[in-house]
Amino acid sequence: MITKIIEKAINEQIRKEEDSSRIYLSMASWSQVNGFQGAAEWLYAQSDEERMHELKLIHYLNDRGGTAQLADLEIPTTKFKSLLDVFQQVLKHEEYISASINEIYAISIKQNDYSTGNFLQWYITEQIEEESTAKAVLDQIQLAGEEKGGLFHMDKELAALAAKKRASQLAAATTNAGI
Ligand code: FEO
Repeated sequence: MITKIIEKAINEQIRKEEDSSRIYLSMASWSQVNGFQGAAEWLYAQSDEERMHELKLIHYLNDRGGTAQLADLEIPTTKFKSLLDVFQQVLKHEEYISASINEIYAISIKQNDYSTGNFLQWYITEQIEEESTAKAVLDQIQLAGEEKGGLFHMDKELAALAAKKRASQLAAATTNAGI
């Protein structure tokens, strides 16, 4: 049985993951409209991944005797200055999510809830990867600067990264379905 403190913390994280999914959906839509097809594909895939993060938390909480509760969310912005601006915000957001996961982990240890601590290890590892990918993309966009050729190349790279992401999402879904 999970404590009320952990239940509250996980529900808050459920809200943040759903919010992340919507933020990336909005960024994906902006990228699509502004001619960055590869970035759009990557961000649409990222949005789906955030929903998967949310679902994983919902299942865990309900399986441990808690109750998952969805929350109201703010309308995500649709205004971005550039692709650089989008990915600066992606990295900032992932850093915020990492801090949030670390906080719940600390609470779980304080509460002697080692099962939740163990469960959160998956998120801790995932956040290292998410921050590292966002940083790598951001570095490349910064290198490309305003140069059209560089941004075009970067967009192609993002399309390839999106295809990889979709393949690993499919593999995870297949494993979860026991196929
Ligand atoms: Fe679910 Fe990108 O954090």
